[in-house]
Amino acid sequence: MSVFPQVRGRRLRTTPALRRLVAETRLHPADLILPVFVREGISEAQPIASMPGVVHHSLESLKPALAEAAEAGIGGVMLFGVPLDEKKDAAGSGATDPDGILNRAIRVAADEAGDALVVQSDLCLDEFTDHGHCGVLDADGVVDNDATLERYRDMAVLHAEAGSQIIAPSGMMDGQVAAIRDALDAHGHQDRAILAYAAKYASAFYGPFREAVQSSLTGDRRTYQMDNGNRREGQREVALDLEEGADIVMVKPAMSYLDVLADTAASSDVPVWAYQISGEYSMIHAAAQNGWIDLDAASLESVLGIKRAGADAILTYFAVDLAQRLTGRG
Ligand code: PBG
Repeated sequence: MSVFPQVRGRRLRTTPALRRLVAETRLHPADLILPVFVREGISEAQPIASMPGVVHHSLESLKPALAEAAEAGIGGVMLFGVPLDEKKDAAGSGATDPDGILNRAIRVAADEAGDALVVQSDLCLDEFTDHGHCGVLDADGVVDNDATLERYRDMAVLHAEAGSQIIAPSGMMDGQVAAIRDALDAHGHQDRAILAYAAKYASAFYGPFREAVQSSLTGDRRTYQMDNGNRREGQREVALDLEEGADIVMVKPAMSYLDVLADTAASSDVPVWAYQISGEYSMIHAAAQNGWIDLDAASLESVLGIKRAGADAILTYFAVDLAQRLTGRG
């Protein structure tokens, strides 16, 4: 082994061009997926206070947003629906109304996006239930796994009919991937892919999202989302989802779970994605607003780190902004 001073790591760090040449990790706009909120009953985009720069779209304002995302060259969009408060009920009926806000948003997006963007949809009941849980409740008020799967099956078929290309169950019910695969296939949608929120942890960083979807949740999701300290169990969840037919697996949140992400990247032979969630986004903004960190540099570093840890693609609210900067259009 050569010893100091023959070995000098700084040689390869001398100029921007050299650093670029030896960079191990590169972000590309196509690696980035933008989560998009579409809200019922509004006519124009409205800001979300807890997520600077993120808005609730109307079905109309969604269109130019998709055009901008396509222009930026990002890989796709993940759609979330925010129904009117009075439409929420215990079963989350709005989720299986073909004219419910999410199904309508998917139709608009599938029409608008053309070949430029992959239209994806979050499949979960929490935006649609009056109790805010990701499934329906049993008599004791506990989320009823198998009754929820029946709701997910119906939702999946509607998402596919509306034009979603990748359907993403995020509720952490046992068997949700198998149930959705079965329902899609039974209705002739063998061509639609499933992105499994495979290792999804019960995180404090979802806070701003819950404002964004005007969540009715009281309490927490700890009976279905994973315990924060469990690394091995993350691999078990990923393996189960792959057995059930997941086409893509995801780790969520990202920054506090990079070990789980690295494990997943090492053990999976399907695409591995990560979700940089609302709280991860908003805390970077909040610190930047205070002048404590540089927004552009910190957001880029945060997403690059997620890619370095093993994500092939990243869902991030920074997607369009980053893509524009990566291509010099920011
Ligand atoms: C559930 C869902 C959540 C997110 C995506 N899908 C919230 C939750 O589990 O409470 C979080 C996204 C984010 O925080 O950015 N439908």
